[in-house]
Amino acid sequence: MKMRWIRFADTYESLQQELNQRSCAPIVIDGHGLLLVKHADKYYLVKNKCPHQGAKLNHAVCEDGKIVCPWHRYGFDLETGRGAGMHLENYPIEAREDGLYAGFEYFSWF
Ligand code: FES
Repeated sequence: MKMRWIRFADTYESLQQELNQRSCAPIVIDGHGLLLVKHADKYYLVKNKCPHQGAKLNHAVCEDGKIVCPWHRYGFDLETGRGAGMHLENYPIEAREDGLYAGFEYFSWF
């Protein structure tokens, strides 16, 4: 699978500041709205749009390795994006010497 990698942060410490004591926060990368999530000392990037009815996940919570939408409380696995027969798009984070990169399937935005 061809990936497009976009640098979005300097370090994991800068992500921690972005979260500001919360477990998730909206973040824009390359003009696209995502949700940055920290759970069990690991960071995740998911699309900030619930696959159920399209709600923003800004006020979602993490429970048992899932991001739980505040609207109807469907949960989506942070590793796979699967939940309730739907799929929440998720994006890998790669640490490189010059910073952190988010990976997007090459045509996922088009
Ligand atoms: S809009 Fe997210 S669970 Fe319904």
